[in-house]
Amino acid sequence: MGVSKFVVYNLFLLVFVDQLVSGFDQLWNCSTHIEFASRERNCHTLYQRRSPASVDSFSMAPSDMSQVHAPQTQSDNFSQNSSTYDEDDGEFHFLVTNGYRPEEDDLVKFLVSVRLRQGSKFFGGDHLCGGCLISRTVVLTAAHCLVDESETVLSRNKLKVVAGTPRRLLETSSTQQIKVKKVRPHPEFSADTLINDIGILLLKSEMQPDGRFVAIIPLVDKDPPAGLKCTVIGWGAIFENGPLPDEAIRGDLTILPNEFCYSLNFFEKGMICASNPKDFEVDSCQGDSGGPLICAGKVVGIVSFGNGCGRPFSAGVYADVYYYRSWIEHNAATCPLASWFRLLLITLVMQVLRAH
Ligand code: ARG
Repeated sequence: MGVSKFVVYNLFLLVFVDQLVSGFDQLWNCSTHIEFASRERNCHTLYQRRSPASVDSFSMAPSDMSQVHAPQTQSDNFSQNSSTYDEDDGEFHFLVTNGYRPEEDDLVKFLVSVRLRQGSKFFGGDHLCGGCLISRTVVLTAAHCLVDESETVLSRNKLKVVAGTPRRLLETSSTQQIKVKKVRPHPEFSADTLINDIGILLLKSEMQPDGRFVAIIPLVDKDPPAGLKCTVIGWGAIFENGPLPDEAIRGDLTILPNEFCYSLNFFEKGMICASNPKDFEVDSCQGDSGGPLICAGKVVGIVSFGNGCGRPFSAGVYADVYYYRSWIEHNAATCPLASWFRLLLITLVMQVLRAH
């Protein structure tokens, strides 16, 4: 066999065997509880586990609890809210009321933008959804961001994840963009009921947390109680049917009691709901989906849906991260065949094939 033929032959074999081996990888992806438990040590698991210091991060003073009530009536609010249009000075304030941008945003580092890889002429015009990094290579987002209208999973080649870019439309030296290796919406997600609206993107390479613009957020490690104070952050619409902002906006919310949440259409188990008891207009909105609801520095909810945005007597609905914690852990674990084992297998199979 000539040298070039030999090279082509081996290359062909290598690709073939590599495909075969990654097929195994799929089968062996730690997707069941028992499998995961028995192989935990071999798997690549999340970096951020519970930290001892955070054990009591959810305890609330009794006075906090007294503030937990269902969203107030519209008339309550007319006196105290600022609206999207301020009549006093005729200026357009653009905010979903009380959405705000602090001078120094210490949460935007947790927010990533899930984007389409093609289709926008300018940076950030292809923003699809929010998300957050739960390890260097794993993004937590909403399942509805990862499927099309017919519930077909989007091709990984269509997506990318952009981190370190507090301004959606501005690429800076802190911006990191990474392609997607695997798209994993929850397998029982339903676009009709929005049940199990949680999903994972495995990245092709690692994001580099810099602590300032890009950071990994820990998963919540306790069932979040009603009354817990949280913040949602995203590049979603600044009011119902409004435009998307350039800079990420935050809204301060409180987790509402289940009794109220179950009064909302489509609310089911695996969901939590939140609003601002003082101002019903504070809410997430279109484009915020997939982004994190952050409480005491941990991701507690994933923006999922609502009836419009910022309406009275309503609340935003979020996938309950604590409820899905084992699904997240199992699916975030890539559990690849260790590279040395992969190499060994490739060599072996190549030897066998060549011998024939
Ligand atoms: N489904 C929306 C999205 O895809 C998020 C809506 C959240 N709505 C709300 N009222 N909290 O971006």
